[in-house]
Amino acid sequence: MVVAENALAASAGVEILSHGGNAIDAAAATALAVGVTNPASCGIGGGGFMLIYLARTHGFYALDYRERAPMAASATMYVRNGKTDEDLARSGPLAVAVPGEIAGLDAALRRFGTMKFSAVAAPAIRLAEQGFPATPHLVEDIAHTAAQIAADPGLKATYLTPAGAPPKPGDILHEKALGATLRSLGDEPVTRFYHGEIARTLGAWMKAHGGLVTAEDLAQYRPVWRAPLYRAYRGYEVWTMPPPSSGGVVLEILGMLAGAPVSGLGADSPPYLARLIEVLRQGFIDRDQYGDPDFVHVPIDLLLSQRHIDQALQRALHHGTPAHLAPAADHGTSNLLVVDKAGNVVAITTTINTIFGAKMTVASLGLVLNDEMDDFAAGPGVPNVFKLEGAVANEIAPGKRPLSSMSPIIVMRSGHPVLTAGASGGPTIISGVVQVAVNVLDFHLSAGAAVDEPRVHEQAAPDVVFVEAAMPAATRQALAQMGYRLKEVHSLGAVGAITIAPGNLDGAFDPRKGGGAAGL
Ligand code: DON
Repeated sequence: MVVAENALAASAGVEILSHGGNAIDAAAATALAVGVTNPASCGIGGGGFMLIYLARTHGFYALDYRERAPMAASATMYVRNGKTDEDLARSGPLAVAVPGEIAGLDAALRRFGTMKFSAVAAPAIRLAEQGFPATPHLVEDIAHTAAQIAADPGLKATYLTPAGAPPKPGDILHEKALGATLRSLGDEPVTRFYHGEIARTLGAWMKAHGGLVTAEDLAQYRPVWRAPLYRAYRGYEVWTMPPPSSGGVVLEILGMLAGAPVSGLGADSPPYLARLIEVLRQGFIDRDQYGDPDFVHVPIDLLLSQRHIDQALQRALHHGTPAHLAPAADHGTSNLLVVDKAGNVVAITTTINTIFGAKMTVASLGLVLNDEMDDFAAGPGVPNVFKLEGAVANEIAPGKRPLSSMSPIIVMRSGHPVLTAGASGGPTIISGVVQVAVNVLDFHLSAGAAVDEPRVHEQAAPDVVFVEAAMPAATRQALAQMGYRLKEVHSLGAVGAITIAPGNLDGAFDPRKGGGAAGL
């Protein structure tokens, strides 16, 4: 079964499974395909995380192919006239970090895949070259960024009509240049992308446009296999990505909930949601200590120790309530999940950060450039696009990876996987993954119901509780009466989930964003 944020991308993964590929092959195919069909969210100009459970060895593997800062980057690179100019990190050439997507997919395929790169890239190439229907979600993203798209020749030619308007849902889009780039990668994608013509073209483009990424930065890029994190959650074991992911924050939040069980309360109940809000707050406060473990010491053992979690829970239970407002909504990033017939599980979250990343392309390559530099702290206390405030552990340094909220999980019970989930939506990834996990594990909802259930989000700063409009009015009222300052939003991120039982896979994509759940 494959769950992805686009139905055709999920079908691409199933096609690979039907050709005998395993979950790693199918995940790579789905990731490449969703980069074609959801170009505003992710693609070969971005990077991500892959969490793998291998049934044969019962082993977990965490692959970090997050972008990294170019070697010419510095902690003060966005300071102009003594003031941090955050816009420089959000769009334009200085926002771009060194892409990791191709290196990551190649590393996973070489270690655990059974098929060659060209075979898993075939469905993506076909979609790019022969065209695919624009989804309502993509059309929305294009309309939302139409002015910036119009300013970039590559984006404009590909994603606006000749009259300069956004396409309509169902209109067929072609990405000929991207298709040709994917085709040119053959079975040596790293050599071709990071050491050959593509690297030279990207380096030359950057130089001409005032960006920092060089061909040498690409040559030096390496994905990293990291030790995954896990922690018990009641009768389960939850596995996730380590830093620079925020998987540890998910584990800490679940740890607090395990100390004050919520099973009897109900997914929409004010007492559960109030407890959730408070533990989310404490989890996000501790997130400030996270960064790239190759550059800073993240005290993960301490943060996930029972003693620390007990103390954080006490703070959560005794916290007085609220303060001020600010919005947080975006549609970049893509999560996908695969379970194959051997029982292997792959959960990928991948991104170019915000909608259409840096809002720039290397047009000849069909490469949409990321704006992942905005995930760094541009300056102490300076909030990024998701209102996450900068902390020292996450300041910019050459070659460093920016802290991410992307936190795919795989949950085990008695030595067998029972659930995998992941999300897109910036910091709402963390709260979304927690809520869907609790909905399945504590409230015993099906994958679909767990994903559909209205969600809340709290990230410590700004101290406001985001709540989906679909949350029952009585629940919202009860939370407001408790003193929470609520900010109603249409949707909070997009979560995908697959529940796994002997002979029964149940997959759900998030109707908030659309997608597909397809099986053999
Ligand atoms: O890695 C991160 O945390 C962000 N770059 C994710 C951005 C995202 O999910 C965009 N929003 N939907």
